Amino acid sequence: MSKLKQIQEAEARLLLSTYDRNPILFVSGEDVYLINEQGERYLDLLSGIGVNALGYSHPAIVEAIATQSRKLIHTSNLFYHEGQAELAQRLTERTGLDRVFFANTGSEAIEGALKLARAHAGLLRSEGKQIGTKFLALEHSFHGRTFGAVSATHKAKYREPFGPVVPGVEFVRLNDVADLRAKFSDEVCAILVESIQGEGGIRPLTQEFFAEARALANSTGALLIADEIQSGMGRTGKWCAYQHFGILPDVTTLAKPLAGGVPLGAIVCSEEAARAIHAGMHGTTFGGGPLACAVAIAVIDEIEKSNLLAHATEVGNYFLAQLRAIALRHNSIIDVRGKGLMVAVELDSADLGKLVVAEMLKRHIVINCTSDTVLRFLPPFILQRTHVDTAIRALDEILTNHDAAHAAATSEAKSMGDSIHV
Ligand SMILES: Cc1ncc(COP(=O)(O)O)c(C=O)c1O
Repeated sequence: MSKLKQIQEAEARLLLSTYDRNPILFVSGEDVYLINEQGERYLDLLSGIGVNALGYSHPAIVEAIATQSRKLIHTSNLFYHEGQAELAQRLTERTGLDRVFFANTGSEAIEGALKLARAHAGLLRSEGKQIGTKFLALEHSFHGRTFGAVSATHKAKYREPFGPVVPGVEFVRLNDVADLRAKFSDEVCAILVESIQGEGGIRPLTQEFFAEARALANSTGALLIADEIQSGMGRTGKWCAYQHFGILPDVTTLAKPLAGGVPLGAIVCSEEAARAIHAGMHGTTFGGGPLACAVAIAVIDEIEKSNLLAHATEVGNYFLAQLRAIALRHNSIIDVRGKGLMVAVELDSADLGKLVVAEMLKRHIVINCTSDTVLRFLPPFILQRTHVDTAIRALDEILTNHDAAHAAATSEAKSMGDSIHV
């Protein structure tokens, strides 16, 4: 029995059945390629769902892990170590915010941000301000799987099996300024947005909507929280996607590519929001450990040394232009959108979305489909134009084959219809 088969059988017996995995056993990775047990290389345009910013086996990451693991992997947050302040310095400078709390995952960062907003509203109330405890989140949002995060996540299938979820979240229609105004009041302690929605289908906020959220929050002292877990750390060509809008939130959340594949999340917030938190109110055993911090520092330094923000913009623009060119030939593509290396192709059917992902995989290219019909590309930041060309050729071929099959099926149905009339 193959090693993959053995693992599949063992997992089926031993794991909670949360995942519907593709039948591939990856054993290593190099540059932008994943390598399976037979030594076959797969071009990875998903990077572990937006995590492996520097691809695989990057010397900066390998070196940081080797060096730090020889010194200190974990201390707990009862003691100081060398990494947190150094990393926080880099994050505050790059986000435009003031203070950092380190967590382990995106969901945990969101949980902390929601708690921070409730605590901040409590502080304002104690100072005599009128402000409630409600959260506004957006339709099509995704903020994670823990209770607070999933309560602010729009898709019913993620929330409903676990009800009742955390109360006090209301969803606003994406980019509907009138709906935002109607639902906002001094009952709201925070507005939670993704500057560019990820799981929701790579949908950016409009400038008008984002600016209105900022203005409404300012009017009462509510916090504007920008979840940059998928769009942040340089993926869109800026450190945070909100920087494309010229809007500064009170709080941002980071995770995914932050430590290049080692789990690490962060809440970064303003001095004003940080007033609400005192020692003992919030914490974590693992968050911001020496290993994860050392790797995150190495990742940020490498992004700057190799000019990867400009590179993500340049290769991302090339990717979008190539996708727009093939969209002209395929009616099944109804939209191409994105920013930097956060790229989407919206198709006209969910079945086609599934088919394209499977066909790309057969051609050894990893992508995924989100929101049923949106092909999502979140490649490593080190992607080159030649990799884009490979992906475009494959996608063009798959859609051409599909168009031909579709045309043949339509003409067969038509001729059957004609013969019935005769
Ligand atoms: C925007 C956004 N927020 C939060 C999360 C949750 O992060 P994690 O899976 O690390 O808990 C995700 C994960 O996909 C995300 O895309």
